[in-house]
Amino acid sequence: MSMFEAILSTRSVPTGIGLGLRARFIDRVARGAADGVPTFVELCPENYMHRGGRSPARLEEVAQRFPVICHGLMMSLGSTDPFEDAYFAQLRAFLDRYDPPWHSDHLCWSGLHGAVLHDLLPVPFTSAVARRVASRVVEARDRLERPMAVENISWYAELGASQLDEVEFLVEILERADCGLLLDVNNVFVNAQNHGFDPLAWLERIPLERVVQLHVAGHESWEEDLIIDTHGATVRDEVYELMAWVIERTGPRPVLLERDSNIPPLPELLDEIRRLDGVYQQALSRWEADRSGGSADVRTAKAVGHA
Ligand SMILES: [Fe+2]
Repeated sequence: MSMFEAILSTRSVPTGIGLGLRARFIDRVARGAADGVPTFVELCPENYMHRGGRSPARLEEVAQRFPVICHGLMMSLGSTDPFEDAYFAQLRAFLDRYDPPWHSDHLCWSGLHGAVLHDLLPVPFTSAVARRVASRVVEARDRLERPMAVENISWYAELGASQLDEVEFLVEILERADCGLLLDVNNVFVNAQNHGFDPLAWLERIPLERVVQLHVAGHESWEEDLIIDTHGATVRDEVYELMAWVIERTGPRPVLLERDSNIPPLPELLDEIRRLDGVYQQALSRWEADRSGGSADVRTAKAVGHA
């Protein structure tokens, strides 16, 4: 049984293409402007845990319309600081209210000695660090009393001396913590381009039974041989292909469109969700054909076509 199936056996989980909820359009989504297009919304609890004003009321209205998945920014799983009790108390209260199927955060560190760095920084890929991160994932799961998933990040330099490669490091954490993977295929593509490896070879080594959710996003070129995971552009064809490659092997999963800068008008984001859904549905058809004994030859990363 996959991690996703294990969660699915205890509760319903949204699948299909979701919308990352942003302040810029939360009012419109709360009034129904996105109804019928995304199958869920993903939100960052830290953006709402201290909010007064209209946001709590708007969020309540959005949650009436869509299933909610939560994705955090500030757990700093790679840090050596102890977890803050106040942060976990607030996060737990928030998650208990919206009851997402799991909580996720990034495989990174983003603060030290109480200072918040507002960046998602990589940790050295070593067994010692993997053990520490895994124990923190387990502690987070126990404090929140909710399954945890970790997200692979985009990284631009190795910090410290790594003894493992990224996949070995990731797999050690997943297995030690017995947690889910939020697989960001744009981060895989960005890292592959910047560090010179084959993204499909990377994905082939990932235990896909651990994948509970995917992220897709757009990236931008910085220099000729450097691309940056800005979440500030439309999703590139190559990232659609990686998403499809995963879905045709895992079956239905929630896939989240992330957009954090250069945010277009909501109708444009909804159009992008419809395009993603077209590719997602094609991939699901190949997964279903494969399961029912159809030809596996239809499974090819280059078979993805979208308008
Ligand atoms: Fe992501």
